[in-house]
Amino acid sequence: MNRETAPAAPVVAIDGPSGAGKGTVSRLLARRLRWNLLDSGALYRVLALAALDRRLSLEDETAVAELAGVLDVVFVSDEAGAERIELDGKVVTDRVRTERAGDSASRVARYPAVREALVRLQRDFARPPGLVADGRDMGTLIFPDALLKVFLTASPEERARRRHKQLKEKGIDVSLPALSRDIAERDSRDAQRAVAPLVPADDAKVLDSTEMSIPQVVDHIVIWLSERMDVPPVG
Ligand code: C5P
Repeated sequence: MNRETAPAAPVVAIDGPSGAGKGTVSRLLARRLRWNLLDSGALYRVLALAALDRRLSLEDETAVAELAGVLDVVFVSDEAGAERIELDGKVVTDRVRTERAGDSASRVARYPAVREALVRLQRDFARPPGLVADGRDMGTLIFPDALLKVFLTASPEERARRRHKQLKEKGIDVSLPALSRDIAERDSRDAQRAVAPLVPADDAKVLDSTEMSIPQVVDHIVIWLSERMDVPPVG
């Protein structure tokens, strides 16, 4: 185990493409285990918003990487488990979830200097009693020594359907074909980029959630985890 990457607490890494259910699964799993949660996608989203707010060009790798190094972002979880995200002291929780933030995030996430600037910040989330880390490169690069690595997928059609439902519940009306196109575009940008492309770690367990409910996915991961450590009982 490498000293630089050895986490200070057990880590479950959950990677996979957009819309596979990672966010919900990670949140529920962290709550069930009473562990910390790292939503690394939100970090890239917040960074993209911060760059847009400062009118930086998303094509300017150096400027965006410099901003990443001084990013003033805070994640706060209240008692009920709801999360608030603050950027420069202002609440940006809803803005972070927009498609504009997601699309801009995948643009700034292409840059090696940007990714490098966010490594330390992400590793600092690994604090006792443990961490559930949700992203694209949690198991491959950020936490290569994670106790358990899961690569969560679902068919592109199912992922588009889930994203559509999620947005509709928030009152956002997007056409399903347009969403499918966006998801396919983002997938290919994430999978083909030169740095930290979206691939399962060699030692990741691949879980296809197309035909599974969220609680089934969480239970599955808990079973895998309990093969490696004592998992605290529910409640
Ligand atoms: O997961 P989420 O949709 O919030 O991520 C937004 C974008 O941030 C992704 O499309 C991806 O380009 C980028 N990302 C990344 N590495 C991570 C998490 C997210 O490149 N660990």
